[in-house]
Amino acid sequence: MNPKTAYQARDFARFYDWTYEGITEDIPFYLHAAREHGSPVLELACGTGRITIPLAREGFEVIGLDLSAEMLRIAQEKLSKEPAEVRSRVRLIEADMSDFALDETVSLAFIPAASLLHLHTNEQRSSCLSCISRHLKPGGGVIVDLIPAERLANQTVGETQEIERSVSPSTGLLTWELGTKLSIDRDAQCVIVEHTYVEQLPDESEKRYVFVDDYTWLTEGQMRGLLAEAGFGNVEVFGDYERGPFSESSSRMVFVARK
Ligand SMILES: C[S@@+](CC[C@H](N)C(=O)[O-])C[C@H]1O[C@@H](n2cnc3c(N)ncnc32)[C@H](O)[C@@H]1O
Repeated sequence: MNPKTAYQARDFARFYDWTYEGITEDIPFYLHAAREHGSPVLELACGTGRITIPLAREGFEVIGLDLSAEMLRIAQEKLSKEPAEVRSRVRLIEADMSDFALDETVSLAFIPAASLLHLHTNEQRSSCLSCISRHLKPGGGVIVDLIPAERLANQTVGETQEIERSVSPSTGLLTWELGTKLSIDRDAQCVIVEHTYVEQLPDESEKRYVFVDDYTWLTEGQMRGLLAEAGFGNVEVFGDYERGPFSESSSRMVFVARK
């Protein structure tokens, strides 16, 4: 499946921003890492700037890279409401994280929100980590936040979950999201998810938007192998954003390593 499908759609980008806006639990973790390594910082798959902008507000120079022009358009729109000194610290770049070239090196690079799962082949993932390595200063840090493989593999096909229901500030309409697992291929380590966003219009009718997205999960061993192959060392794996140990019951699988 083409990884661009959902995020390239204008409506998906605006719904994504609405759903993720309130998720802030990982932001202190990245601020801490940025303080440890210093500027500049490279955020791969930066989306609508949920993490990018708080980093810039704290004084860090941030390069935000994303494949989707629509996600970046929203990030830019949000950035335009920030003070000039915050705006001046952010550079947004439309590019593929598995094949990019920048004109500078960075102290820290990170892929948040399990976005590496949008790369579906080992070639793409290896190429992404090689690109990161080429852009990191010696001793620079890399962080990759993943959803543990078991969490994705052990879901139920056909199950629908209501994820969010609130009034969207951008439209003033009561909006909710339904997530349905369409298929899980445990051999290919791939899950296909249908995201349905429903808006209640002023006449009480409902307008539905449906997007399909796919994720290829990685085990701890596979991710360790990819980091080692790309030359990263001092690898640590955490189970949450408070740097707690990773275990079978962890909600996240966060890799921290150094060049
Ligand atoms: C889950 S969102 C994360 C956005 C943001 N970092 C956040 O935490 O809110 C995943 C992002 O990955 C981006 N993406 C998917 N494939 C990509 C690729 N090959 N290169 C760069 N970005 C990609 C999508 O456009 C989307 O913005």
